[in-house]
Amino acid sequence: MKSSEIRSRFLQFFKNRKHTIIDSASLITSDEKGVTNPTLFNTAGMQPLIPYLLGKPFIKDGHEVTRLADVQKCLRTVDIDEIGDRTHATFFEMLGNWSLGDYFKEEAIKWSYEFLTSKEEGLGLDPNRLYVTVFEGDAVAAKDVEAAEIWKGIFKANTVSDGGGDTSKSENGRIFFMPASSNWWEAGENGPCGPDTEMYYDVKNVLGGKGLTHERFLEADSKREVVEVWNDVFMQYEKKDGKIVGKLPKPSVDTGAGLERLAMVMQNVDNIFDTDLLKPEMDVMKTMAKNWKIESARIVADHIRSAVFLITDGVIPSNTDRGYVLRKLIRRAVRHGQLLKMSEDGSSKLDIIVNAVILNYENVYKEVAIKKDFVIAEILKEETRFKETLNQGLKEFEKGVDAFTLFSSYGFPLELTLELAKEKGITIDVNDFNEKFKKHQELSRAGAEQKFKGGLADSNNEMVVRYHTATHLLHQALFDVLGNGVMQKGSNITTERLRFDFAHGAKMTDEEKKRVEAIVNEKIAAGLPMTQVKMSKEEAEKTGAKHFFGEKYGDEISIYYIGDSLERAYSKEFCGGPHVKNTRELAGPEGKWHFKILKEEAVAQGVRRIKAVLG
Ligand code: ALA
Repeated sequence: MKSSEIRSRFLQFFKNRKHTIIDSASLITSDEKGVTNPTLFNTAGMQPLIPYLLGKPFIKDGHEVTRLADVQKCLRTVDIDEIGDRTHATFFEMLGNWSLGDYFKEEAIKWSYEFLTSKEEGLGLDPNRLYVTVFEGDAVAAKDVEAAEIWKGIFKANTVSDGGGDTSKSENGRIFFMPASSNWWEAGENGPCGPDTEMYYDVKNVLGGKGLTHERFLEADSKREVVEVWNDVFMQYEKKDGKIVGKLPKPSVDTGAGLERLAMVMQNVDNIFDTDLLKPEMDVMKTMAKNWKIESARIVADHIRSAVFLITDGVIPSNTDRGYVLRKLIRRAVRHGQLLKMSEDGSSKLDIIVNAVILNYENVYKEVAIKKDFVIAEILKEETRFKETLNQGLKEFEKGVDAFTLFSSYGFPLELTLELAKEKGITIDVNDFNEKFKKHQELSRAGAEQKFKGGLADSNNEMVVRYHTATHLLHQALFDVLGNGVMQKGSNITTERLRFDFAHGAKMTDEEKKRVEAIVNEKIAAGLPMTQVKMSKEEAEKTGAKHFFGEKYGDEISIYYIGDSLERAYSKEFCGGPHVKNTRELAGPEGKWHFKILKEEAVAQGVRRIKAVLG
């Protein structure tokens, strides 16, 4: 079964069971909204839904809905060093269905079983090869006998050997009790959490469909004879700063099934790189490589796929936070691409691999199709930058420059320095690096907090409000002059000036700056009304208004537009305001002020900053 069919069968299955199907949120977590779990990326399907799992109503088309299903793009980099083996990936897709205070254990477990085993509606897996785990209980929460009994009933009803034992004991033979380390789910220190039940499939068909001992099951897991294919989490508690602070107002269900894993099972291959999700990239490399190294090819395939999705969702390479993760992925891909020797001239041929990813996904995620030229250009630009700094940095390295300087000035990821050092038999002081790196991150985090506050120093101040509206005009004018690749990276406003950061690969010419100024001044002189409208997320997205931070699931969205109507507006953005009523107000009390760019400079690789005033 193709991965596209797994996706569509999953969504259809839950649609048939009254679930509302929602789009994947961006890979980028929404820092601005006070989501309780401040990771850089969505690492599980539940992450964009945390507020709703905690009890906030999910509104769709004016109605509250309590059953959702989606396929969510996820990125996890904790296991980046494992990439190259059979199952690890940084980017992956997670199939999930949710009950927001609606159904609970009974339906969740029953539907998981049905989807996995139904030939008509689901995946048609052999129920005799299915084994499950449930939570054994601890000081926080009781043993999940209820889930175990539900499983026992399901196996019995479907004439699957239920393991034969008493489900109140740990040794049932098909249903195994496990500790919190494996059967308790939470996304970090804060947010909803609870016990879970996990489903495993005997991929090698070696366990014989009979009751196993607990020990044999654990062995099968460690030998990957069984693969975890799905997890149902019963969200019942809330954590703050790592401590349970109480029960959720409404118990909810969060489920997750990794598409790559399911594809592996359904396509009968023993590694994710042979599934149709990654094979096109692997095939391209295989035909080009003069020096076939499967681990390197897998690293390139994985990292380039992640890079394509990250750039599509608005990340660009830099030395901090998300941009650094992306930089690291591309640079590792370049290095491993070189090892494969795919060309005579030493070029890594990344563009061909990027194209293979895009071809494979552009029909699934429309944003990939829309951004593809930009994505290819950004990856190639980063490759060029890396090669330039690599040459420069290698010279410094030979002179004995420390790992942090190599990182901050030459963009060498630490592990690259460690690899080079190993080749040369040099020892690197990793603690020293980590200390300097922490300081560096604290500084950039302080900057990011400003950015996500919307950068409004004082929203009651007239001048600040004027600059806020001027920022919207500037943003659109930059699009007009520099093209669609311009993406807002930050904004900060004081009573004295506006500051606006945006993605753009080159210094603006004087001519470009003049054109931007002229456009903004023309819009001020035209005295255009600025209007706020509120609508559902779906309608808001259809308006084409600019928005930046990924998901806004189910929220009522506020859009500000400049012009006579939303359809014909010069500028429209998702924004909470406040703004002036008419652009004329930007010309000041006597109508004499003009918009002027004071400075245009680089703040990071590919990020430009404009400071501008009205006066
Ligand atoms: N949130 C659960 C997981 O990611 C379903 O496994």
